[in-house]
Amino acid sequence: MASNIAVLILAAGEGTRMKSDVPKVLHTIAGRPMIEWVLCAAKRAGASSIGVVVGHGADAVRKKLSADGFGKARFFLQAKPRGSGDAVRCAKTFLRGRRDVVVLCGDAPLVSSNSIREIVRLRRSYRGCAAVVLSMRPEGPAGYGRIVHESGFGEHAGPVAKIVEEKDIADADERRITEVNTGAYCFSCPDLLRALSRLKTNNAKGEYYLTDVVEMLAGGDSCVHAYCTLDAGEGLGINSRVDLANVGKIAGRRILEGWMNSGVTIADPCSTHVDASVVIGRDTVIMPGTFLRGATRIGRHCSIGPHAYLENTTVDDRAQIRASFIYSGTIGREAQVGPFAHIRGPAVVGPRARVGNFTEVKKSRIGENTKVSHLSYIGDAVLGRHINIGAGTITCNFDGIKKNPSWIGDNTFVGSNVNLIAPVRIGRNAVIGAGSTIDKNVPSGALAIARSRQMNKKGYKKCTR
Ligand code: UD1
Ligand code: CA
Repeated sequence: MASNIAVLILAAGEGTRMKSDVPKVLHTIAGRPMIEWVLCAAKRAGASSIGVVVGHGADAVRKKLSADGFGKARFFLQAKPRGSGDAVRCAKTFLRGRRDVVVLCGDAPLVSSNSIREIVRLRRSYRGCAAVVLSMRPEGPAGYGRIVHESGFGEHAGPVAKIVEEKDIADADERRITEVNTGAYCFSCPDLLRALSRLKTNNAKGEYYLTDVVEMLAGGDSCVHAYCTLDAGEGLGINSRVDLANVGKIAGRRILEGWMNSGVTIADPCSTHVDASVVIGRDTVIMPGTFLRGATRIGRHCSIGPHAYLENTTVDDRAQIRASFIYSGTIGREAQVGPFAHIRGPAVVGPRARVGNFTEVKKSRIGENTKVSHLSYIGDAVLGRHINIGAGTITCNFDGIKKNPSWIGDNTFVGSNVNLIAPVRIGRNAVIGAGSTIDKNVPSGALAIARSRQMNKKGYKKCTR
């Protein structure tokens, strides 16, 4: 296996076609900035050293990468976007003294670690090989640089003569070429450094094209080869929001297939979205219309959906979540949530607990086997175990100025339509009569009723007639 691989990622481009205030490489694919996909592939390929050329939105890119654990990469600044060749030139100090370097585009997130290793291996094994280009044959070659071979076609193609950018295509022969440049290369560093200093801007875009290096290195004593990947998905570049959606779809499908192959049932992959960072246990069933995002972790034998949205949420084994929104929740073993629950964390729903329909839980703890089955609001509250909360119970946590807590002890029964005016403390084994408005603490074992007595006025209907 190829070792001692240095990878340089180009991420300074303006990304004009995205029409965005966010730097292009920070737009996300399955919840992860596209450049981090490239960094992950480089790491998986065994890169021993990684450089990133930043420019447009440099501070934001650097900050995000450092926050996400890629701070060890060496950053190089390209002050003005003058082309991919100029971008590599800005990282000359990264190239000097090295045998070879892999150059990748920060806007082509699906590049595989296998292909990275393969282009390094091929370059090192061909005598006089100054570069290997990772090429592909996508459904439509539009927008990509075309690979021009010295002779032959397909598998019989000889070494690469040059790469022609779409805007610079000169003749009908070049227009017919279907093999294109993915923007991933392995270069011999001494050869690359020499060629970079000779780059010119005599092309349609008036930029220093990295692709022009190829023609300089082809012919004479050295040669350039193409390694054509059979998986055209891995080379797709993102230049527009349409590309973002297309690549997102491919990435999403791959993530789902990965989980299906690990024993997770995905009832309808087309309507299911799972971020790259999510973990799902085996024998869990994900029903249609479900979104699992961020640091979400689902245990085994769970049933999630239909129509569940979980963000940064942990779900323990055998729990059931139906048609609900959960943010930063911790859902216990065999707990049941929904349909139509809204949980805003940090919130804990204990083992075998139940948060039912039209119930909102905010920053609260619901103990083991406690049931909040219908139409309730539980905010800033700590509920013990084996409690039954009747339909329509509201913790009145906001006094207009600040949020106040409520506590309810184990085994307590709260009747329907109770208002708990916080701060308030209800003991264990207490009973609260339906329709009560509780604004004083209730001791353990007590019955609290706080509602006006019913009066029945006999004969009332007759006398109003
Ligand atoms: C580039 C290739 C093209 C290839 C395609 C694959 C060139 C000239 N063309 O075209 O052959 O088929 O990628 O997706 O390289 N960048 C900088 N600084 C710059 C300009 C670009 O860092 O001044 C970076 C970008 O952030 C991007 C990469 O280089 O990651 C490619 O640049 P882009 O402008 O997207 O080139 P393409 O037109 O897609
Ligand atoms: Ca591009």
